[in-house]
Amino acid sequence: MNVITAVIKGRHSIRKFKQAPVDEAFIHDAIECAVHAPTAMNLQPWLIGVVRDKVMLGKIAELTDHGKFISQAPLCFTVFGERTAKYYLEDCCAATENLILGLHSYGVGSCWVAGDKKEYAEDIRKLLDVPEKYTLVSLVPAGLPDDVALATKKETKKLVFFDQFKKE
Ligand SMILES: Cc1cc2nc3c(=O)[nH]c(=O)nc-3n(C[C@H](O)[C@H](O)[C@H](O)COP(=O)(O)O)c2cc1C
Repeated sequence: MNVITAVIKGRHSIRKFKQAPVDEAFIHDAIECAVHAPTAMNLQPWLIGVVRDKVMLGKIAELTDHGKFISQAPLCFTVFGERTAKYYLEDCCAATENLILGLHSYGVGSCWVAGDKKEYAEDIRKLLDVPEKYTLVSLVPAGLPDDVALATKKETKKLVFFDQFKKE
């Protein structure tokens, strides 16, 4: 284990936040992490929004099914992908995870909230006036953690094979 793997393994989804604002420098550096993600053909087909307006946070939360806690977050990132880029979903998922890990490295908690495949994706795009060429991939509410719920993880050795899969 090293510092980076410890950071990665120490991340947990955070759904309760303190109201304190998140340092601008942390936000900007986490976005830089997001846009350093790998992308197919290096297209970088994304658009990242940062929503801090309380009314807007409330409207986004209301539109989601499992993201009502967004209304209580000090901010919410929105990751959009260019629909015409063949691998926009993979690319934007890589950016989302980089964003989350970048935030976590500064002690800022967050939670991936589904966007792609959700019926509310178009409503959120329209709410934020984002051009039609983009589609919502993920929402990432963020803030200083006020509570951490540890998710149970499957046993790694049951999820991995080396060289060739062997039936038990
Ligand atoms: C594609 C995706 C969509 C998710 N959507 C939601 C969501 O809508 N609401 C939510 O509370 N958590 C959501 N999560 C977070 C997962 O519930 C969480 O990652 C999982 O329970 C494991 O917990 P951990 O992140 O603490 O390891 C989502 C995660 C992913 C990767």
